[in-house]
Amino acid sequence: MSTPLRASRTAVLVCQGRAAADGLIAPGRFADPTAMLLLAPDEREAVQWVRDGAVPREWRQRVDFETVRANAELIVPRTVAIDDALRAHPTPQVVILGAGLDGRAWRMPELADVTVFEVDQPASQRDKRERAAALPGEPPRFVPVDFGRDRLVDALAASGHRADRPTTWVWEGVVPYLTRPEVAATVTALADCSASGSRLIVNFQVPGWSMKLGGLLARLLAASTGRSSVWATEPWRSTWTPAAMADLLTRHGYTISRDESLLDTARALATPIRHPRSLGHSRVMVADRA
Ligand SMILES: C[S@@+](CC[C@H](N)C(=O)[O-])C[C@H]1O[C@@H](n2cnc3c(N)ncnc32)[C@H](O)[C@@H]1O
Repeated sequence: MSTPLRASRTAVLVCQGRAAADGLIAPGRFADPTAMLLLAPDEREAVQWVRDGAVPREWRQRVDFETVRANAELIVPRTVAIDDALRAHPTPQVVILGAGLDGRAWRMPELADVTVFEVDQPASQRDKRERAAALPGEPPRFVPVDFGRDRLVDALAASGHRADRPTTWVWEGVVPYLTRPEVAATVTALADCSASGSRLIVNFQVPGWSMKLGGLLARLLAASTGRSSVWATEPWRSTWTPAAMADLLTRHGYTISRDESLLDTARALATPIRHPRSLGHSRVMVADRA
């Protein structure tokens, strides 16, 4: 798979979801004040419509509104599930894989004394570094890596990652964009530098016809506005059943400690549920190395 020259657009989309939800959805359980700051002015427009509940009349704007609102609904339970798993298991190092515009390194006080690494494709990471320049606080260590091409272990070691110390790996919203062999190779690589006491928090999509239909609908909607869908350049390449993901992780020395559907998380948080199928097809699995 060739490395894209452009920064990820799906990373912007999920960041818009966090910005739209900040302080409004699940207050007290979810907050991300970094998200709005990481967006460009034109990317903030649809976010503000959602925050204001101002449904646009113009079709193209309406599509943007619905897309951001749907992302906000999905991203809150996803973030809360991952943040909870991160907080519950402190480690001296955290590696965020395919970090996109994730603001955890800046926003989580629990990471203040932790060495945080952000791994991403070079183009996405360049874009993130420019956007994050205005964020207050200590930036993470940036490690440019394409999972389909580069050696994760070497790149991390060159940036000061210690394989003999426990690491928490956060792998959120990335697995669908990788082929099955790329996912398996990445698990092999991270397992190779996971000391005992390490934790892997992975978000993945389960297979289902409604997911394929949703992707097609998103493309049609984008086409109706005269633009290309973000999934045209960043297509989904793999889905995993919970059993297949658990099997992959246990074969690499991990023990599954939690596996939750985001629909269950959303219900527990009492967040809006307009798209139950999307929520139900997204899972967060937590796995530990004894
Ligand atoms: C949907 S975004 C998720 C970003 C972030 N994890 C979040 O949840 O906000 C997908 C991210 O995966 C990264 N990604 C996709 N394929 C990749 C690859 N082969 N190697 C490294 N990163 C990749 C993209 O650059 C992008 O930042």
